[in-house]
Amino acid sequence: MEWWLKSLLMRWGFVLKRRRQVMMRKPAGDRSLDPGDLMEAIHGTDVYQGFDFAALPCDLQGWGGDSPAFGELITAVRPALVIEVGTWKGASAVSMADAAAREGLSTTIVCVDTWLGALEFRTDQADAERFRALECRHGYPQVYYRFLANVCHRGHQQRIVPFPMDSASAALWFMSHGVKAGLIYIDASHEEEAVYQDLVDYRQLLAPGGRIFGDDWDWAGVRAAVTTFAKAYGLTITHCHDKWVLAAAA
Ligand SMILES: C[S@@+](CC[C@H](N)C(=O)[O-])C[C@H]1O[C@@H](n2cnc3c(N)ncnc32)[C@H](O)[C@@H]1O
Repeated sequence: MEWWLKSLLMRWGFVLKRRRQVMMRKPAGDRSLDPGDLMEAIHGTDVYQGFDFAALPCDLQGWGGDSPAFGELITAVRPALVIEVGTWKGASAVSMADAAAREGLSTTIVCVDTWLGALEFRTDQADAERFRALECRHGYPQVYYRFLANVCHRGHQQRIVPFPMDSASAALWFMSHGVKAGLIYIDASHEEEAVYQDLVDYRQLLAPGGRIFGDDWDWAGVRAAVTTFAKAYGLTITHCHDKWVLAAAA
């Protein structure tokens, strides 16, 4: 081969190699985040600052939020970070924050929720626990402020970080920031495909030795998604009180 052709090919090879390295680099500004930095990284400010929580009484209505499973899993895993997918008014997040405080852990809990409800919140306008509890003003839910007030009433502003986003987009944000969580609680949509996708997205965010668990085993869509996912990924489904828990197969 002519020397000039060889040298050209080598140079192209070099250029290609460099380009591949650049493409594989993490996005600009990316770094592995310390859980304690998540409020700043997500919001650029402390969302509780100046919030008049006294105007909204504490109201932790929800579903399965006071389960003893939260305390047992926090004690067993001792996570630096919990990601909760589906928070509503914050009952389950507050239970985990209480448990972390009891254990003397500095655990951060990031709550991913649109605070717009899910399909079952829009099927019955007389439903006081769902549609009416969205507290729509001019057609837009205000329940996020109810959640925020509850966190303040329970004194967990230093632990609980809201992330008002759909679960799929939030998962991408966590991935691009190198975030890993010791515990991930799945309790957003109850539709089979959506739950399956949440499992696919959030399992990638588990820290080594971490656990992914969730609510509503009695919902057909949830049970089908968890069962199919466990089979596909070779995981075992166990139960802790009313929660399903995924574990590596023995
Ligand atoms: C069953 S509630 C969560 C209950 C809560 N864990 C408790 O302790 O009461 C489901 C929540 O998931 C949220 N949600 C539903 N689909 C979502 C999605 N795709 N992304 C983010 N949040 C979602 C809803 O807004 C709602 O607040």
